[in-house]
Amino acid sequence: MSILVTGGAGYIGSHTSIELIKEGYDVIILDNFYNSKPEALNRIKKISGGDFKFVECDIRDRAGLDKVFAENDIEAVIHFAGLKAVGESCRKPLEYYENNIGGTVTLCQAMRDAGCKKIVFSSSATVYGSNNPSPLREDMPAGGTTNPYGTTKLYIERILEDLYKSDNEWSVVLLRYFNPIGAHKSGLIGEDPNGIPNNLMPYITQVAIGKLNHLNVFGDDYPTHDGTGVRDYIHVVDLAMGHLCALKKACSGTGCDVYNLGTGKGYSVLDVVKAFEKASGQTIKYVVGDRRPGDIAICYSDPSKAKAELGWEAKFGIDEMCADSWNWQKNNPQGL
Ligand code: NAD
Ligand code: WQD
Repeated sequence: MSILVTGGAGYIGSHTSIELIKEGYDVIILDNFYNSKPEALNRIKKISGGDFKFVECDIRDRAGLDKVFAENDIEAVIHFAGLKAVGESCRKPLEYYENNIGGTVTLCQAMRDAGCKKIVFSSSATVYGSNNPSPLREDMPAGGTTNPYGTTKLYIERILEDLYKSDNEWSVVLLRYFNPIGAHKSGLIGEDPNGIPNNLMPYITQVAIGKLNHLNVFGDDYPTHDGTGVRDYIHVVDLAMGHLCALKKACSGTGCDVYNLGTGKGYSVLDVVKAFEKASGQTIKYVVGDRRPGDIAICYSDPSKAKAELGWEAKFGIDEMCADSWNWQKNNPQGL
């Protein structure tokens, strides 16, 4: 039996594929390389020391998906494939709805018709919107998303919940990630954004490597300990391990469950800058500017449900996250 990993050449998918292969799973990675490169596959092979299948395919391509399910005995799908840039989603909402929601519907139709009814889905803390106070718990009402990207995650969660309600043979695990950073210890894979990074950590590492002049800090007048935004950063390898636990849950019965994957600790932008400077020995020049539209002051998880029910908790702290992000960037100044 195999595990299909959609979006497995991307940042989180590549780290998860490595842990799956190391654990002995037969892995099939499916990706269209929209936001990743074939070199990621060589690196996965090198780090894991194992083999896997790869299919270049789009999750909106029903015939392509049918072929993958017909040719392989797939037990479950870990579904990472999707577009994830918040700002771009405001400019191109239709592309985001088509790719993320349309693609997920097509994938689930192919799964249903092939009799594969176990799915682990990459959701996001963004589904909590701006009205819930941190620490965020899974029983708080989701909604009030502030951009089309976030809305795709909210709707996909609803679609998968409805799918389970319609057919109790499904097993759905929705994972709400907080802010993934860090990289594999080998320094061979990591986050590899196209163009100017949208997210904090890749921006910092590109300042450190000299590709960008300084970090723009988006506001220092939030109600936080130093005025800058607070987030729950989580090491991508911890996140990958969370998927192995979620997969075991998905394969052990039926149901529809949702879990936060975070550390439960919040760090401000300036805390991260300081931790990065300490871990890397580099000075990060920064300029404080205006708030970024759509940002909230504070967002961190209550991760206790994942610990209680999946037996998972994050192990790495902010110092290791920063050290591993830097190790990846300095070994790969131009990315993959
Ligand atoms: P990523 O862009 O590195 O990986 C996504 C992968 O999916 C890429 O390799 C891309 O080429 C592929 N892909 C996109 N559309 C596809 C399609 N139609 N068909 C086939 N492949 C397609 O992103 P990531 O950071 O690894 O994120 C993985 C998932 O986790 C995404 O769904 C993202 O929304 C979600 N997520 C990410 C974060 C984060 O901060 N990185 C936070 C919460 C949730
Ligand atoms: C973190 C903090 C910024 C960049 C996003 C998505 C979310 C999820 C994770 C996918 C904030 C500040 C950032 C910069 C800055 N992705 N910042 N200067 O916004 O918490 O979450 O990624 O699901 O949906 O919204 O992450 O890394 O962009 O920002 O000051 O150049 O860093 O204001 O306080 P965010 P981020």
